[in-house]
Amino acid sequence: DQQIDLAVVAGDGIGGEVVEQGLRALEAALAPSGTKVVTTEFDLGARRWHATGETLTDEDLERIRQHDAILLGAIGDPSVPSGVLERGLLLKLRFTLDHYVNLRPSRLFEGVTSPLADPGEIDFVVVREGTEGPYTGNGGALRVGTPAEVATEVSVNTAFGVERVVRDAFARAAQRERKHLTLVHKHNVLVHAGHLWRRTVEAVNAEFPEVTTDYLHVDAATIFLTTNPSRFDVIVTDNLFGDILTDQAAAITGGIGLAASANINPDRTAPSMFEPVHGSAPDIAGTGKADPTATILSVGLLLDHLGRADEAAAVQAAVAADIAERATSSSVRNTAQIGADIAARVAG
Ligand code: IPM
Ligand code: MN
Repeated sequence: DQQIDLAVVAGDGIGGEVVEQGLRALEAALAPSGTKVVTTEFDLGARRWHATGETLTDEDLERIRQHDAILLGAIGDPSVPSGVLERGLLLKLRFTLDHYVNLRPSRLFEGVTSPLADPGEIDFVVVREGTEGPYTGNGGALRVGTPAEVATEVSVNTAFGVERVVRDAFARAAQRERKHLTLVHKHNVLVHAGHLWRRTVEAVNAEFPEVTTDYLHVDAATIFLTTNPSRFDVIVTDNLFGDILTDQAAAITGGIGLAASANINPDRTAPSMFEPVHGSAPDIAGTGKADPTATILSVGLLLDHLGRADEAAAVQAAVAADIAERATSSSVRNTAQIGADIAARVAG
């Protein structure tokens, strides 16, 4: 294609600053092929909510659907009650656009100091289910604020939903060198959902006999992420376990400033969405301290999803080179300088 129509949701806090740098890398990567990036900015987040009371309207969604992909900065602001933007905007996008694969790669780049004394090689990807689990909002509260209050959050796991994400995880594992898939759950306690996940992995494994599998309870998985992260290749897990594990995965590979993610609709019935794992960091918004690297790496995932493997590799290589240099340089760069340096490397 000679044109990519991109919906841009800068969102809150540092979102706009990091997205700006992500777009620079994207344009640098596509320039040699003559591909144009046409962006449409969507005013979504705290500002819009305060001004109009809206989080994400049907009309917004309809317009967003017209695009090839979405680049999102960050959502969330302390001036908005917790959950309003998270549920009404970010999760609504993921759910409505059927982003059932929440892909979160973890790699320890050369030059990055891990908080682990002996991290070994870290290169795995978490396939986090994106549309079900405890995130659906199924549940409720009774007698709120009284001593008799009851609050339930019911985890929804459908055979359809589990199978499609497990199949995607197997397909990704089959493409990788080690071809290994780890299911993370807690089927010794969450028996209903846990056994559905376990049976599904067993069944889908028949379609991918070349992929080896194992299983870890989520608590044990957190231990291995600390003691032996090299053992992981592809992890498949539910929405909430995946949320927690991917923050830990980010921490052991240099922090959330480097953690990229893709919310993918593999059936391509709606645009996929690419965003850094980090939040809006209102405390440093406007200071130029935000690291745009996670957003730039997310742009790499975007290019990959759009079938631009070479351009994706160029972005990834540029980031790797920039990170390697950080280790030896004492100069402190701001958001825009990091973005400019990486874009220059992408341009070669
Ligand atoms: C993430 C975030 C979101 C999540 C929140 C902000 C809803 O923590 O992308 O990991 O829980 O998925
Ligand atoms: Mn999270």
